Order: sequence, then structure tokens, then C-alpha cells
Amino acid sequence: MPTLVVVGTQWGDEGKGKVVDVLTEQADFVVRFQGGNNAGHTLVINQKKHILHLIPSGIFRPNTICVIGNGVVVDPEVLINEIEKLKKEGVDISPNKLIISEKAQTIMPYHKALDIARETKAAQNKIGTTCRGIGPCYEDKVARKGFRLIDLTYPETFKEKLKKFLEEKNFLLKYLNAEPLRFEEIYEKYVAFGEYLKPYLTDVSQVLWNAQKSGKNILFEGAQGTFLDIDHGTYPYVTSSNTIAGNACCGSGLGPTEINSVLGIVKAYTTRVGEGPFPTELHDELGDILREKGGEYGATTGRPRRCGWLDLVMVKTALRLNGLTNLAVTKLDVLSGLKTIKLCIGYKCEGEVIDFFPSDLEKLKKVEPVYQELPGWEEDISQVKNFKELPESAKNYIKFIENYLQVPIALLSVGPERESCFLLKNPFNT
Ligand code: GDP
Ligand code: IMO
Ligand code: MG
Repeated sequence: MPTLVVVGTQWGDEGKGKVVDVLTEQADFVVRFQGGNNAGHTLVINQKKHILHLIPSGIFRPNTICVIGNGVVVDPEVLINEIEKLKKEGVDISPNKLIISEKAQTIMPYHKALDIARETKAAQNKIGTTCRGIGPCYEDKVARKGFRLIDLTYPETFKEKLKKFLEEKNFLLKYLNAEPLRFEEIYEKYVAFGEYLKPYLTDVSQVLWNAQKSGKNILFEGAQGTFLDIDHGTYPYVTSSNTIAGNACCGSGLGPTEINSVLGIVKAYTTRVGEGPFPTELHDELGDILREKGGEYGATTGRPRRCGWLDLVMVKTALRLNGLTNLAVTKLDVLSGLKTIKLCIGYKCEGEVIDFFPSDLEKLKKVEPVYQELPGWEEDISQVKNFKELPESAKNYIKFIENYLQVPIALLSVGPERESCFLLKNPFNT
């Protein structure tokens, strides 16, 4: 049975949660493999809005098992609150329905405190992080000074290590003019978190391997987007994990030969939260129109998202980095009512026109987008149920994207609701 990876092709918030919710109707397992509660994935089901930060977007499908892989950084308090909230809403979230890798790293209170203190100190030069402790947690993982979730279930060794690590963290916090943290406040709380989460912890790699061998459908749910990738994004204005499809393997323990297809989610325009270059950003009232019509406010931090035209140079680069086999275009409805729509098809860069995203940030800051202008459409398309019903100009916009990128568009989304979208082909197939 096919295994599908879903990733964002821009700077996050492309509508991954919505698309994953739609596609998990066909999936036995849905797996988060990187990031943490910096993610905010929105699902609208029967007019009720749900924002998920750590729990995969398959949780509302009764037959789909949700998996948090080893590559995720887990804030146990946030996860437990998310579990409790869903339980209250009557959602099945037993350890048969949600499984968590025992190897996933734990976000500690000092990770959050360091994230906030560094951003505050950097002031004008800040990254614009979500201040959820994501970066400092990944740093400790790589430095081999992190706690895997399973470590919380061994109170004595946890105690020794925590004492040692906290000494160094408090030294750093003091340097950053932040309050030190007290051992007693962390220790008992985190041991209790370990006890709560223990029934959910397991060897995810083995579970997925067995699932694959018995013919189950597995869907990987990416968080963030390609240009927030720690290696391939707009460094240093990125998150601290690899967000591209290749990391689905490292972040779950399933081998690359088990992956069949990769679906790239493309918002019909571009948005970004936080600092960093953004070639097609609109600084005029058109940007404000997109923000208001598209409800472009962060699902995690509530910050207004920066908005701009669709940048096909970016998406073309995302195609290469992720090995995309299909695309899903979301939020097409937001463009209704614009007289003309622009798409970026090249960058003027040091006297030539290029069609790839430069890695050199100094070059990227100076590129000038080359635009293709297409006629817009007036009609409200939020009720459209198939390609044929779309206005001619909307069809042309979609065909233009497909022709430029030479990758099939498998899904179109025209509204936030689960039902407001339609398939053009099955994204599980290449
Ligand atoms: P994610 O992080 O990629 O899952 O995306 P977010 O949930 O952060 O942001 C996407 C926003 O757009 C959410 O508010 C969704 O409810 C909404 N959304 C998703 N698809 C569509 C669509 O096709 N049309 C409209 N109008 N809204 C959409
Ligand atoms: P989803 O999964 C949009 C951005 C932050 C900041 C940078 C680093 O909902 O698409 P971090 O807290 O990760 O160290 O912040 O990355 N960022 C996101 N932007 N969507 C997200 O997730 C994001 N997760 C992180 O705004 O610029
Ligand atoms: Mg989001």
C-alpha cells in the first residue's frame, strides 16, 4: 500500500492540516515527524474549528492511528493539555489511537525561557520564533544533552541529569538577563508528565514497519514549510528542524525505499510569519486584502502573517528539494474578486534572470521578482465541487501553475471546511 508524505512548499501555513484531515480518510496511520508545537494546523469540521499543535491531523478520523515520531520535539504540558481538550470533546484518544515515540525529545522549561530570552536580547535582529523552545530543544538533542520522553519515566537518572543540566542553563539565563529556574519546580512536574505519557510511548519505527508489511496506508504530516528548513531554508530565518520530505524517514524510523509519493501543499499566494526575506511580499493594501480575506493570522501565536503573490520560483525549488510527485493548491477562493493576479516566474539577480531560489541570503535579499500577470475572476468559488465548475480565469491560473512546474495538481481547496475541496487525482499514487 502506498506511503505518502505531505509537506508545505512555502513558509508554513499552506493548509497542511486541512489537506491531511481530508486525505486521512484513506490513511491507516498519520505521522508527525518533525517540529513541535510551533506548528498550528487548522481543521474545520461541521463548522467547528480545531487547531492542532502536536497531535496529527488524523485524530478526527475514527479509524486512523495518530503517531508522533522521534523527530518531533514534545512539550509534554502542551501535549497533555491537547489530549485532555480532545477527550472533553469526546474524541477517542486512547493509547490505541495515539502513539508516541519513546525517542522523541522533551521541551523543558529552560528551552522556552532561553528561546524568549534570546529573542528579547536580539531585539531588532531577532528571528521571530514562536518562543515555544523549539530551537533550544533541538540544540540539546544534537549536543546529547536532551531528555527523550522515555527518560522522564526513570525518576532517579532524570533527577541526576536535570540537576547537572539546569546548572548550565541557569548560568546562560542569567547572562541573558532572565530569571533562573528552580529544580524542584521542574522535577516533580516532569516526572508526573512521564507517568501520564508512559502508556502512549512505544517504538514507532517498529509499529510503522509492521503496518507497512501488513499493507496499511501511511501518511506523513509535515510541519512548517520547505523554506523554514534548517538546511535548505532562508537560514538563519528558519526553524530548527529539517522540514523537507526526506526527513520523514529520519523522524519516524521508516526507510526511504518505503516512501512512494510526496504531495506539496501550495497556498495560492504566499505568506510568512516572523522575520526574513520574502521576494514577492506586498507592502500595499493588496497585502492587507489577502491577510483579511485569507484570515492570515498565526494559528499558534496570533501574529499577522506577511502576505504576497504566489512565488513559483520558490515552489519550483521546493519541487526539487522534496521530490514532489503531486501538488495541492489551497485557498484559491481567497483570490476571488481581484482584477488581475500576479505570479512570480523568475528572479532578476545580478544582471540575469534565474528560476531557482538562491541559497545566498545576501543575493536573495536583492532579487527582483519577474511577474506574469493573469486575469482574475469575480465569482465566489467556495462551493465549487469540481474543476469544470471553476470560472475560466481560475482554471487558467491553475493550468499556468501546473504547466510552469510540470507536476500534476491532485487536489484543489476552495474553503476552510473539510468539504470545501476536490480531488483531481489520487495523491497516494505517483
Ligand atoms: P497549516 O499550518 O499548513 O496547517 O495551515 P494553518 O492552519 O496554519 O493556516 C491555514 C489557514 O487557512 C487556516 O485558517 C485554515 O482553516 C484555512 N484554510 C485552509 N484551506 C483553505 C482554503 O482552501 N480556503 C480558505 N479560505 N481557507 C483555508
Ligand atoms: P505550521 O506547521 C509558519 C516560523 C516562526 C519563525 C521561524 C522559527 O503551522 O506551518 P521556531 O519557533 O520554529 O524556532 O520559529 O519559523 N514558524 C512557522 N511559520 N508556520 C509554522 O508552522 C511555523 N513554525 C515555525 O514564525 O519565523
Ligand atoms: Mg500553521
